[in-house]
Amino acid sequence: MKILLASSEVYPFSKTGGLADMVGALGRALVNAGHEAVVVTPLYRGIREKYPAMRRVDWHFDLPLGLHNATAELWELDRVGEAKIYFIDHPGYFNRAGIYLENHISYADNAERYIFFSKCVVNLARYLPWRAEVVHVHDWQVALVPALILQQKKEGWGNPPATCLTIHNLAYQGVFPAEAFALTNLPGDFFAPDGVGAEYFGLLNCLKGGIVFADSITTVSPRYAREITTEELGCGLDGVLRENASKLSGILNGVDYSDWNTTKNSHLFAPYSVTKMAGKNINKLELQRQVALPVDEKIPLFGTISRLAEQKGVDIQLGALEEMLNSNIQFVQLGSGSPEYERGYRDLAARFPGKVAVQFGYDENLSHRIEAGCDFFLMPSRFEPCGLNQMYSLRYGTIPIVRATGGLDDSVIDYGQSATNANGVKFFEYTSRALAKAIRKALAIYAQPELLRQFRRNAMKADFSWAKTVGEYLAVYRHATKLFATEHVQTSAVPAQVIGARSEPVAISSVKKPAIKATVKRMAK
Ligand code: ADP
Ligand code: GLC
Repeated sequence: MKILLASSEVYPFSKTGGLADMVGALGRALVNAGHEAVVVTPLYRGIREKYPAMRRVDWHFDLPLGLHNATAELWELDRVGEAKIYFIDHPGYFNRAGIYLENHISYADNAERYIFFSKCVVNLARYLPWRAEVVHVHDWQVALVPALILQQKKEGWGNPPATCLTIHNLAYQGVFPAEAFALTNLPGDFFAPDGVGAEYFGLLNCLKGGIVFADSITTVSPRYAREITTEELGCGLDGVLRENASKLSGILNGVDYSDWNTTKNSHLFAPYSVTKMAGKNINKLELQRQVALPVDEKIPLFGTISRLAEQKGVDIQLGALEEMLNSNIQFVQLGSGSPEYERGYRDLAARFPGKVAVQFGYDENLSHRIEAGCDFFLMPSRFEPCGLNQMYSLRYGTIPIVRATGGLDDSVIDYGQSATNANGVKFFEYTSRALAKAIRKALAIYAQPELLRQFRRNAMKADFSWAKTVGEYLAVYRHATKLFATEHVQTSAVPAQVIGARSEPVAISSVKKPAIKATVKRMAK
């Protein structure tokens, strides 16, 4: 198949979180499976300098944006064994210090920046000699692409591609004042209320527009696909999602084991594998040395790598650690985000000197070292669409301790679920007490070397490779193209995990309804 992937971040060119990892890896996986995948993303600051092989394409975007026009240039980069990638070059919008924000403040023109980017994606899909059968867009930043394509179809685009929207995180919807809708230059009926347009309580909601107009919608785990149709985790869009449930499915993200592995990884102090585990201990001792914790292989070492956002359960983690750090354990954290949470970790480090190491900012090298050097990895998320770090932890033989939500629940096996296959520790209630109890269970596992070895073996054997996952996306793409051609559902072609057929929504009563974030994601790099 021919698939155009559009995303506001793509690893290794830009990244604030798992979205970048996922799109980068999906492109590669589609190519490995013999398909033609092309990626399009903004040309942010510093990318061109890092990739001198990049070429300018003889192409000039000059597109209406409300009452004005905006222009951009196009760059391309061919990569062996990888998806070809196009970069949209608009220095005013994208040559900035951050991707979505600076000094914790979102750029005021994010609607303009990403509506323009979305229009470039549509223009590319329409006029590239290489014709995509499916345009697969990721998150709110490009969620208006399906509506823009539909409008061009109405205006005479003969054979447009089908569209697929992946929701990586429903809490970020791209909500802007109603006036921003004018930037789309779409007719007013695309802004209709009552679930049929991009309007949401008088505001523009880009993600809602995507949900309504995309031919297929996926999210990044089966459980999260069910959760987002409930009031608890629907972030205000559960009703719209229920109405569109027949085109919604959940596909657990894969892991790109060529980047995330313990045998050929230049970030690590020593290689190791399920049959040669000695290297894991070297990584632990060197990590302790690097982050200035007492170097002692006997002390259980816990770690976290995360955006410091409400979603990630920082509040209950701080509470649980406060209690558990009175035992003989160490904790290392790498993260960046909310100043309030950063303060929380700094205070913790000050109260438990020699037991807590905190690092702020983005550090890819250290992230691999934490994954490899720790005994346990903490992910107590309030909600988690998929989560990648718990899957990286499993491959690194680092036992994940996770809250049973979204993709965390789908990817980790607790002792209570299977004594023989257990590879992690799960807890349910969103409280510090429940997390502290899970940490005590981890310590009990740690105290039994044979059990710990069994958990590690199970963890390292878990397989989330993209080769498996990519087939599920292809089923969705095929279904979307059929749907688009016939404009009615053909039940036989519905992939296995389409959730319209499932009855019981998952209720997580302890989860506070997350606030809808009006603007964009996370930290500047
Ligand atoms: P999310 O996308 O919600 O942030 P995921 O678990 O899907 O969560 O993915 C997070 C990705 O970002 C992982 O690759 C993780 O290693 C990386 N990451 C998060 N924070 C940092 C950081 N401070 N430094 C380096 N990598 C980070
Ligand atoms: C989002 C989610 C995370 C998911 C990632 C990649 O950022 O928060 O759970 O793993 O996207 O799909």
